Amino acid sequence: MITLTINGKKIRVASGTTILGAAQKLGIDIPTLCYDPMLEVYGGCRICVVEVEGAKSLMAACATQVQEGMVVYTESEKVIKARKEILALLLANHPNDCLTCEKAGVCKLQEYAYRYDVKFGQIDGERHNYELEDSNPYIVRDMNKCILCGKCVRTCAQVEGRKVLTFAYRGFKTKVTTAFDKPYEDSDCAFCFRCVAVCPVGALKDKRASGKARHWEVSKEEFTCTFCDYGCKFE
Ligand code: FES
Repeated sequence: MITLTINGKKIRVASGTTILGAAQKLGIDIPTLCYDPMLEVYGGCRICVVEVEGAKSLMAACATQVQEGMVVYTESEKVIKARKEILALLLANHPNDCLTCEKAGVCKLQEYAYRYDVKFGQIDGERHNYELEDSNPYIVRDMNKCILCGKCVRTCAQVEGRKVLTFAYRGFKTKVTTAFDKPYEDSDCAFCFRCVAVCPVGALKDKRASGKARHWEVSKEEFTCTFCDYGCKFE
């Protein structure tokens, strides 16, 4: 077992636990965008960075294992500054359409922008202008809203075992695509909606529910998928 201190509170956790896991045990909410407990750690978005006493740089809480005697601060001045910068960069290339976005109210980017008081337009940079992909009857993809967290890519490969989605291109042009950037319906996609379920923003939407009601206007029910033998539970 390892003893560490987070925001002044001592905790003992099993070795191999991440800082994020230890903080969650203490009820401390560290923001995450690319982290998902069902998936391998990716550590790409950096919104979960925390300050560790003695460390030269901020560390990703989801990708850093606890060490004996560690002293961690999850909301220090440095941490908040870094999170604000990350959010400002994400918003610099994100449509300002929260008023009509299907994910309003359950969007992680919206939640954290509000939490850290980051507004659209704080950074003026290059913007994507992808066409909306809605040629299939089930999933609408708006890559202008994609934050490249990779959760859809990893869930398709690691949970669903299909590997329909991947990252393609480089730098600013990096994009989540199907093989050869084909429409969903021309790929091996089984329309299981796992990618839609894990998307933290409005990049992937269930077309069948689109425009019918906002999230706070419907109640959720848990159901077990019978598509394969996994028995995955969804809301
Ligand atoms: Fe930790 Fe994205 S949630 S790096």
